[in-house]
Amino acid sequence: MLRWLWQFIKPYRLRLVLALLALLMTAALTLSMGQGIRLMVDEGFAAESREGLAYALSLFGVITFFMAIGAFFRFYMVSWIGERVVADIRIKLYDHLVGLTPSFFEDNLAGEIQGRITTDTTLLQTVIGSSFSFALRNSLTFLGGLVLMFISNVKLTLIVLIVVPLIVFPLIFFGRKVRELSRMSQDKVATVGAWAGESLQHIKVVQAFTREDMVNKQFSQAAEGAFDVALQRIRHRAVLIALVMMLVMGAVAGMLFVGGNDVLDGKLSAGDLSAFVFYAIMVAGSLAAVTEVYGEVQRAAGAVERIRELLATEAQIVSAVNAAKLPLQPADDEPLLAFKNVDYTYPLRPNYKAIDTLTLAIKAGERIALVGPSGAGKSTLFDLLLRFRDPQSGSIELAGKNLSNLNLQELRSQYALVPQQPVLFSSNVLDNLRYGCPDASLEQVIAAAKAAHAHEFIEQLPDGYESFLGESGVKLSGGQRQRLAIARAILRDPKILLLDEATSALDAQSEFHVQQALNELMKDRTTLIIAHRLATVAHVDRIAVFDNGKLVDIGSHEQLLKSSELYKRLAQLQFSVAVE
Ligand SMILES: Nc1ncnc2c1ncn2[C@@H]1O[C@H](COP(=O)(O)OP(=O)(O)OP(=O)(O)O)[C@@H](O)[C@H]1O
Ligand SMILES: [Mg+2]
Repeated sequence: MLRWLWQFIKPYRLRLVLALLALLMTAALTLSMGQGIRLMVDEGFAAESREGLAYALSLFGVITFFMAIGAFFRFYMVSWIGERVVADIRIKLYDHLVGLTPSFFEDNLAGEIQGRITTDTTLLQTVIGSSFSFALRNSLTFLGGLVLMFISNVKLTLIVLIVVPLIVFPLIFFGRKVRELSRMSQDKVATVGAWAGESLQHIKVVQAFTREDMVNKQFSQAAEGAFDVALQRIRHRAVLIALVMMLVMGAVAGMLFVGGNDVLDGKLSAGDLSAFVFYAIMVAGSLAAVTEVYGEVQRAAGAVERIRELLATEAQIVSAVNAAKLPLQPADDEPLLAFKNVDYTYPLRPNYKAIDTLTLAIKAGERIALVGPSGAGKSTLFDLLLRFRDPQSGSIELAGKNLSNLNLQELRSQYALVPQQPVLFSSNVLDNLRYGCPDASLEQVIAAAKAAHAHEFIEQLPDGYESFLGESGVKLSGGQRQRLAIARAILRDPKILLLDEATSALDAQSEFHVQQALNELMKDRTTLIIAHRLATVAHVDRIAVFDNGKLVDIGSHEQLLKSSELYKRLAQLQFSVAVE
């Protein structure tokens, strides 16, 4: 764990050295207080001299002053390093996560991963920013105190030392257990968080189905589960602390008994014994403190494990190393996009081909519609084009180049996607529209909004283009969200336009207008449109009919009405016209 952490701490070595110096200084000063006590007892009390007492106390004052300065620097530097390192880890973790393949987030709850970014790193911060220095300081006090104990009285020291092995063994045993439990407990807490996040985000569905009680019950079960695991951990630590304390204080009592008798026999001065007791208590206290922190460190080790696991997860889909340069110009007879015998099976449904031996070529500038029953594999096709997934066999080519030979970001910047569920971010209208094109001027944004028939309703929002939209755009209607998603795509001005049910949430009139805008946008642009309502795609160049992952028919509306059984059936249902 330390080796791993070191890569993050290394850049701040200088501060670390300063912190260590301050730490050394305070530890040394703490120990020198023992001498102050000896002077106070022997020169002050035993000699019954007020001057001796005043002298010893002024010495105390000086020591305290320097200790305070040392403590200031130690605390400041160490906390600084802790906060800084955790910020660095968080940034690195997030940066890593953003690059992961989307399917990773289907298999792992996004909320749980959020938990790792926040709670796990916070745990680390406590350890680096305080526990660690605390442990180091106490270890120094422990060692220094031990040396001073030996110097001042070997016999008494040996009595104290008998208990050390008795302490170390339970420490190791319980420590391991605590670490295990701590990991479990962090996992549980993360699940609880993810769970709460999801139900709160979809609060309307929860309340509409009056499932508050059920959600409450499930949540409290999860929370109780987390509590139970935490309790086990606490129990182990409590036993550990009590055990150590008992052993240590027992040893101190034994030592006092022997030492006290020596003082009574005149073999030892009262000051020497006082100083020795001071050291012994200091040594015992620091040992106890170290064991307590040890548990904390074990917890952090659990957190580190989880963070490292995430960092070790590799993106399954990455850019090609020697990527071909884009934009590519296809030769005249060459298609812009080509699917060649493409098979895709979702890993979780190994026996079902979501895309089944698909072969399809799309020319530059062509407008092609994908239709077919729900679950036919249309959205999956878009995922493949964007390389959110890679086909198991076959190849997909852009201007003759296999997608996997291209730079991922360059490939994706060829597209603008209007997804099936329009996604907006918790920000204002302007930021959301500029999402795919951050440098667009206000005029360009407004032009795009007008084309998507969004300008009018945006103007009516309380702050116009500056209006805040709430989390994932909750403050808008479904159709308004969709129009913003279209405007965003228009603004991006892509080579290839991917529309997944782009107008499904619009009323007939705005659909008509947006359709006009899209027609404008689709001119001289390769476009793939997924649509359920055939009326919206009747005028495209070609319509591809999908069923169960297979391309069953392809042709124009008129051709398909004659040749395709499935298309005919879909058309009959929708147009309620007689088609023989
Ligand atoms: N993440 C996933 N994991 C496993 N199976 C999936 C996943 N996403 C989709 N599927 C399955 O793959 C098949 C194709 O899904 P897809 O979303 O491509 O359908 P679609 O044609 O877009 O349907 P719709 O018109 O309803 O949007 C479906 O049977 C679906 O259940
Ligand atoms: Mg779909």
